Amino acid sequence: MRALSVLVVACFVLMLGTSNAQSPLPPSQQCGWPAVYAGGHFGPPTVRLAQYLLGGALHLANVNATGTLTNSTTLEIKQFQTSVGLQADGFLGPETWTALVAATILFATPRPSNDSVAAILGLQDSLTVNGFPTTMTGVFDSATITSLALFQQDRKDATCTNGTFVTTTTWHLLATGCNATGIFWFDAGWPQGSLSLETLTCLREQGGFRFATYECWVEQGPQGSFWPECVQNIANTWAAGYEAVGVYMFAQRYYDPIPQALWLLGNLTMHNVSYQAIMLDIEGDKWGEYTQEQNREFITSLRAVLEAEGVNVTVYCGDEWPHFFGKNFTTFSDLPLMYAHYDNIPSFYDFFPTYGGWDRPAGKQFWDGSQGESICNSGELDWDWSAKRFW
Ligand SMILES: *[C@@H]1O[C@H](CO)[C@@H](O)[C@H](O)[C@H]1NC(C)=O
Ligand SMILES: *[C@@H]1O[C@H](CO)[C@@H](O)[C@H](O)[C@H]1NC(C)=O
Ligand SMILES: *[C@@H]1O[C@H](CO)[C@@H](O)[C@H](O)[C@H]1NC(C)=O
Ligand SMILES: *[C@@H]1O[C@H](CO)[C@@H](O)[C@H](O)[C@H]1NC(C)=O
Ligand SMILES: *[C@@H]1O[C@H](CO)[C@@H](O)[C@H](O)[C@H]1NC(C)=O
Ligand SMILES: *[C@@H]1O[C@H](CO)[C@@H](O)[C@H](O)[C@H]1NC(C)=O
Ligand SMILES: *[C@@H]1O[C@H](CO)[C@@H](O)[C@H](O)[C@H]1NC(C)=O
Ligand SMILES: *[C@@H]1O[C@H](CO)[C@@H](O)[C@H](O)[C@H]1NC(C)=O
Ligand SMILES: *[C@@H]1O[C@H](CO)[C@@H](O)[C@H](O)[C@H]1NC(C)=O
Repeated sequence: MRALSVLVVACFVLMLGTSNAQSPLPPSQQCGWPAVYAGGHFGPPTVRLAQYLLGGALHLANVNATGTLTNSTTLEIKQFQTSVGLQADGFLGPETWTALVAATILFATPRPSNDSVAAILGLQDSLTVNGFPTTMTGVFDSATITSLALFQQDRKDATCTNGTFVTTTTWHLLATGCNATGIFWFDAGWPQGSLSLETLTCLREQGGFRFATYECWVEQGPQGSFWPECVQNIANTWAAGYEAVGVYMFAQRYYDPIPQALWLLGNLTMHNVSYQAIMLDIEGDKWGEYTQEQNREFITSLRAVLEAEGVNVTVYCGDEWPHFFGKNFTTFSDLPLMYAHYDNIPSFYDFFPTYGGWDRPAGKQFWDGSQGESICNSGELDWDWSAKRFW
C-alpha cells in the first residue's frame, strides 16, 4: 500500500535521545520525543500539545493552539528556552521537551491555578488524540481524571495510574506512541522484496507484530500480474509464528476485474498459499478516469468473485472513496476498513466517519516506511495498528 493520496500525509520524525533516526524503536515501544522545528516532519497534534504547554509555561493570556508551527510558536520556544537557560535555537527536541514538561506537572488537587488552564486544555486534547475522548473544559474535572486514569493504566504509566496527576512521564506517554496497546502489524508490497524467516522472527519478537499482509497482485502490466515473491514471504511469516497472514490486491484499474481476481486466486491455490483475508487496495489516479458507476461495478465484481470462493475481503481506502464511488455508496461498510495517516500515532483519534458508511475503521497505517527507517534489517515496511483483531 502506498497511500499516495490518502488523508493527510504528515509524518513526524522521532528524535531518539541516544539511538540514531535510522533505527526507530518498535512501534509498541516508541518513547522518543517528537522533534518540532521549522521544516521538520510532525503532525498537528504534536504542535498543539507544544503550543498549550508553552502557553502555560510562559503564562500567556490567550493560547491559540492551531497545530501549525508558525513563527510565533518558534518565538515562544525560544522564549521558553531562554527562561530555563537552554540555547534559544527554536528547536523543540528532547532537551527542550523535558524542560517543558518538567515545568508543567499538574495535580487535580488542590485545585490547579488559573495559570494551568492552557496545560489542562493540552492534557484534554492529548487524551482525545490518544484515543481517550475528553471534553475541553480547561478544568481538571472528574471526567478528565477518569479519562486520564484509563490512559495511564492502558499505557502502563509507572508514575501514576489513578488520573489525579500528570507527571513528566505521563506527558511523555501523551506525546508519543510509547507503550501503546492494541495490535501491531505491517504490510509489504513488491518494493520490499524478500523477507527471510530470520527477519520475520526478529520483527515479531522486537516489533511486537502479530499479523502481516503482502501484496500478491500488482497493477503492473496491462492486465495486472501475480507477484510471486509473496509466496515465500507468506510461508516464512507463518513459519515465524505470526497469528495470521493476509494478502492484498492492487488491481489494474484499466483491465477487467473478474479475470484478475480469478488469476490471483488461481495462483494462490497453485502455490498452496495459506492466508486469512484479501484486502482490496483502492488508491491511485486511475479510478478518477472512470465514472462512479463504472468504479462501483468494478469493485463490486472484485468482491463478488473473491467472496464466491469463500475469501474474507477487507478494504484499504482513504477519503477519496466518495470521489471514486459516490457519497451514497455504502455497500462495503460491512467489511473491515484500513486507512492511512502517517502521524506515527497508533490510535484512531484522527478518523472521522465521512465516507463509505463506515462508522469505525479496523486498521490504520500509521508509519510510512518509505523514508528508509527499519528495524531488523527489514527494509521499508509500513507499520499498521488495530485496536483489536479484525481478521
Ligand atoms: C486562532 O488562529 C486561527 C488561525 O490563525 C484563527 O483563524 C482563529 O480565529 C484564532 N482563534 C482565536 C480564538 O484567536
Ligand atoms: C518567519 O521567519 C522566517 C525566518 O526568520 C522568515 O523568512 C519568514 O518571512 C517569517 N514568516 C512570517 C509569516 O513572518
Ligand atoms: C480563576 O478564574 C476564575 C474566573 O476567571 C475565578 O473565579 C477564580 O477565582 C480564579 N481562580 C484562581 C485560583 O485564581
Ligand atoms: C511502559 O511499560 C512498561 C511495562 O511494560 C513500564 O515498565 C514502563 O515504565 C512504561 N513506560 C513509561 C514511560 O511509563
Ligand atoms: C493517586 O496515585 C498517586 C501516585 O501513585 C498517589 O500519590 C495518590 O495518593 C493517589 N490518589 C488517590 C486518590 O488514590
Ligand atoms: C497467475 O497469474 C498470471 C498473471 O500474472 C496469469 O496469467 C495466470 O493464469 C495465473 N495462474 C493461475 C493458475 O490462475
Ligand atoms: C500445503 O500447505 C499445507 C500447510 O499450509 C501443508 O500441510 C501441505 O503439505 C502443503 N501441500 C503442498 C502440496 O505443498
Ligand atoms: C475468515 O476469517 C475468519 C475469522 O478470522 C477465519 O476464522 C476464517 O478462517 C477466514 N476464512 C478464510 C477462508 O480465510
Ligand atoms: C447514488 O447516487 C447515484 C448518483 O450519484 C445514483 O445514480 C444512484 O442511484 C444512487 N444510489 C442510491 C442507492 O441511492
